Amino acid sequence: MSLLDVTDLKVHFHDAAPERFAVNGVSFSMEEGDVLGLVGESGCGKTVTSMCISGLLPRWKADTEGRITLEGTEIFNCTQAELNRILGKDLGVVFQEPMTSFNPVYRIGRQVAESLYVHEHALTRDQKKKRVLDALGRVGLPEVKEVYRKYPHELSGGMLQRAMIAAAIVTNPRLLIADEITTALDVSIQARIIDLLRKLNREMGMAILFISHDLHVVNRLCQRVIVMQRGKIVESGRTKDVFLHPQHDYTKQLIAAIPSRKRTVIWLPDGREADGYIDRKRSNS
Ligand SMILES: Nc1ncnc2c1ncn2[C@@H]1O[C@H](COP(=O)(O)OP(=O)(O)O)[C@@H](O)[C@H]1O
Ligand SMILES: [Mg+2]
Repeated sequence: MSLLDVTDLKVHFHDAAPERFAVNGVSFSMEEGDVLGLVGESGCGKTVTSMCISGLLPRWKADTEGRITLEGTEIFNCTQAELNRILGKDLGVVFQEPMTSFNPVYRIGRQVAESLYVHEHALTRDQKKKRVLDALGRVGLPEVKEVYRKYPHELSGGMLQRAMIAAAIVTNPRLLIADEITTALDVSIQARIIDLLRKLNREMGMAILFISHDLHVVNRLCQRVIVMQRGKIVESGRTKDVFLHPQHDYTKQLIAAIPSRKRTVIWLPDGREADGYIDRKRSNS
């Protein structure tokens, strides 16, 4: 049994034209520990796909077809109570959108602890606090005891993004969905978040569905990649194969659209070293 199976997923928003599907027949699987990239231009259906997987797509807004199973549980057949048991426990989700980000009036510690209050009733208050401090440490935040007591506005963008990842992993989920989480960050913080995700994958065996329109970042993180266009998968495979030998015109266009400094990295066998080389060359000139 796969960790995640998405089979012929279709999504139609009630207010869209009858023939217009936001997601139109998407199928893919993830195994334990997979790091899968989902790429494609804005509006191609990445977020809608991730919302379906996490049971967050409001049923009154859209009709869905197809099947999604997460660790054997069929998401579309779940009651709200069952969905609540999965989300924040076996499945962690980080969105870029403020919708799921922190509430400004509560301290970071309390918000990172949220899933523990929902899912880990057996833990004492002190045990929960210890788990939160541990999660804040794992995402690489310094001075975790101080971060614990801070309010969201007291953290920088990069620190806040780390704290949100901490909130998503505090229950040790089997799958983390990260939807455009590096998009608003500057390049050096992006690189650190990517290193962090790699570490979580390696050390905890956490599978990651990494959604981004930044092919450069996907290339550095993901073993496999899926390319979406207008609700459909047009190409998928090992990241290196897809980016080195794109078969589909749309994938070729996406790659051609990457700024040249970044494009160079993709053509070299070791992304990280290539990056350093290019930066050195730049600073010399
Ligand atoms: N709440 C909504 N109501 C109607 N249409 C929506 C809604 N959310 C998304 N869509 C449509 O679904 C399609 C896919 O959107 P989305 O998954 O957000 O794209 P992206 O790949 O940029 O994440 C878009 O065409 C968008 O217009
Ligand atoms: Mg999106």
